[in-house]
Amino acid sequence: MARIAYVNGRYRPIDEAAVGVEERGFQFSDGVYEVVKFVKGAFSDLDRHMARLGRSLDGLRIAWPMTEKALRLVLAETVRRNGLRDALVYIQVSRGVAPRNHLFPKGAPSSLVVTVRRPKAPGADEIENGVAVCSQPDIRWGRCDIKSVSLLANVLARQAAQEQGAREAWLVDEHEGVVTEGSSSNAYIVDREGRLRTHPLGEAILGGVTRSVILEMARADGITVDERAFTLEEAKQAREAFLTSTSSFVTPVTRIDDHSIGNGHPGSVTRRLIELYNNHLVAC
Ligand code: PDD
Repeated sequence: MARIAYVNGRYRPIDEAAVGVEERGFQFSDGVYEVVKFVKGAFSDLDRHMARLGRSLDGLRIAWPMTEKALRLVLAETVRRNGLRDALVYIQVSRGVAPRNHLFPKGAPSSLVVTVRRPKAPGADEIENGVAVCSQPDIRWGRCDIKSVSLLANVLARQAAQEQGAREAWLVDEHEGVVTEGSSSNAYIVDREGRLRTHPLGEAILGGVTRSVILEMARADGITVDERAFTLEEAKQAREAFLTSTSSFVTPVTRIDDHSIGNGHPGSVTRRLIELYNNHLVAC
């Protein structure tokens, strides 16, 4: 069955779906996005994704393309038309189509595109053995809390990681000397004292929906959470490391650059969080 995309009011086979050449998302990266998981017939953490979409739109002063309620109906209908019970739903909202000019256009409605694809949960090998990450300089702009479609620095970092045989890039803020996050995921360690550490919220990272769920579950489970940035050196010396995102769930990290983490296998805190997150997905 051909994949169906929603574009500005119409559901079309993906090969025929198109936006105008003067779409500002295309010309200026003037837009934001969300990636939402649909698991066994239901959206997971949709309220948190909608709240973040609202913050991203506010941050760039882009209008909602329709009411939030209508958007939720479009998401459900796009998934239904694709006939999937498990899906990753991509939502992109841009400042619309207008003759190219840096200034905000007057009266151009926001554009909305929704596409759907099959999710790919971490494989058994990744869960059992973990993945490798490699450090890359964080050269992104100063508002990484906005989920902007302007992802060039993330693309370059991720490509460099892949070329070095790593699954993800861990971005290092070279002024602060700390790991901010991954190119498309949040980064965590369990430090020598057994504390779960991750970069605090703020403009330097994207506040992941998975991050918020994981930190809540960790605290409720008695794990000490310390939202404090860590250096690359601390990461290499950590007992455990892992990453999270909507599309990669909780994925253990067992290698950072040339260093093996802990005993080279996913540790007990990581394994516990994988279990808790899987339970959360079944429950929501
Ligand atoms: N990426 N940090 C960055 C830079 C991200 O792009 C993402 C998500 C995350 C994790 O956020 P969440 O847990 O809400 O998915 C952190 C999405 C999945 C993507 O670009 O495909």
